[in-house]
Amino acid sequence: LQSLMFNVYSSCLHQSSSENILEDSSSFPCDFLFGAASSAYQYEGAFLTEGKGLNNWDIFTHEYPGKIRDENNGDMAVDQYHRFMEDIQLMTSLGVNSYRFSISWSRVLPRGRFGSINYSGITYYNRLIDALLSRGIKPFVTLNHLDYPQELENRFQSWLSPEMQNDFVYLANICFKHFGDRVKHWTTLNEPNQQIILSHLKGTFPPSRCSLPYGNCSQGNSETEPFIAAHNAILAHAKAVHIYQTKYQEEQKGIIGIVVQTSWFEPISDSIADIEAAERAQAFYSNWILDPVIHGKYPKEMVNLLGSALPRFSRKEVENLKKSRLDFIGINHYTSYFIQDCLFSSCNTGDGASKVEGFALKLNRKGNVSIGELTDVPWQHIHPQGFQKMLNYLTDRYHNIPMFITENGFGDLQKPETTVNELLNDTKRIQYMSGYLDALKSAMRDGANVKGYFAWSLLDNFEWLYGYKLRFGLYHVDPITLKRTPKLSASWYQNYIGEHLRSR
Ligand code: NOJ
Repeated sequence: LQSLMFNVYSSCLHQSSSENILEDSSSFPCDFLFGAASSAYQYEGAFLTEGKGLNNWDIFTHEYPGKIRDENNGDMAVDQYHRFMEDIQLMTSLGVNSYRFSISWSRVLPRGRFGSINYSGITYYNRLIDALLSRGIKPFVTLNHLDYPQELENRFQSWLSPEMQNDFVYLANICFKHFGDRVKHWTTLNEPNQQIILSHLKGTFPPSRCSLPYGNCSQGNSETEPFIAAHNAILAHAKAVHIYQTKYQEEQKGIIGIVVQTSWFEPISDSIADIEAAERAQAFYSNWILDPVIHGKYPKEMVNLLGSALPRFSRKEVENLKKSRLDFIGINHYTSYFIQDCLFSSCNTGDGASKVEGFALKLNRKGNVSIGELTDVPWQHIHPQGFQKMLNYLTDRYHNIPMFITENGFGDLQKPETTVNELLNDTKRIQYMSGYLDALKSAMRDGANVKGYFAWSLLDNFEWLYGYKLRFGLYHVDPITLKRTPKLSASWYQNYIGEHLRSR
């Protein structure tokens, strides 16, 4: 790993790896990646262009427009498919040295492994990668960010079937083969934990499977299916990592990881019951994925509570999980919650209160005290200390594993009365990012081995269930003309990078 890291960061020759820890409060290591993040469905548009097949989100947003707040979809999104040169120009003026994007599975493989490769899709990503590299911007590629060919849903119910593992490996192999000569940072899946909770526990994301009282879907079982889907995702990830490590890594000299959604869970009191509940909340959220892919087993809290609802890894799978050692973990982080125990004391229903969520109730407030100022986004509280604690927790639990902050950002919910000027004058986003970057520096000084930070997001984009009304961009995007305009936060981030990245 040491030598791989050296190759990935060979532009940073004058510093040794021991200098990768912040030495003073003002600068990050010279090989630190400062970037902006995106994903295919949220950005590309061109949903029927040049051979792309239909994916789960295309079908879902068309069949059930009412499930998206503004009844919109990603057909056009921000049209990055046609405007990537313009967007790279924005990245250049921001001064980022990396761009995180994902591969649209159905653009490359319209029918998964049951049809042929769409070479227009390969050409698109080749052009994007080449254009980024020619501006000195490293591509940081997610193989899959929530979208997959609808054919895989229709054929075998996607992540509920072990077949999906084969499809994912098939996609991964094609991507490594076609792009790996130039892509040196790979992640397999984006936030399988959050994706599965929304798709199979609450049923708000496609394929909308769930059961009462967790959600009201026409089919599905919230008590068993999330764990089956996650199991397949974990094994698919491990197989893709294995292919990379055995077939490509030596020659291509890149690194590979996975991205999980994290939230910090603060015990609501210092009682042992609440402290243990906070630990269970972590177990049922990010450790659910990270423990198996790093340690080869599910967290003990999940095993104890779920019993046979939690699938088992065979001995061979455990070996494979341990063998496919991760080079890093990607951390998406936006918020924190208070956690109250519901195992030893009774709780009314609420997020986290049930067995399949670890009997750990998530709360925004403790009496009159909020965990942090609530933003316009109902799930986002500003609590940078939670970010520092999260990074220290992960450092401890996963033995100082390298980490990239693959997403962190602030959402503005556009109300009917919100003006464009208000959206452009995004001082709250600046405060949020500056607080979280300070927390990141503190965590790095505490010893967290963080290698990069990606703002979510470069542009306002299609925010899943909220459509275009929830805006995370450093650049404003006009809904009609798609014109990009820098917000205050774009120039703030540009200055921040300029001031904080030690010169190369
Ligand atoms: C995490 C997801 O990866 C991304 O797609 C989403 O837009 C952001 N969170 C904000 O909700």
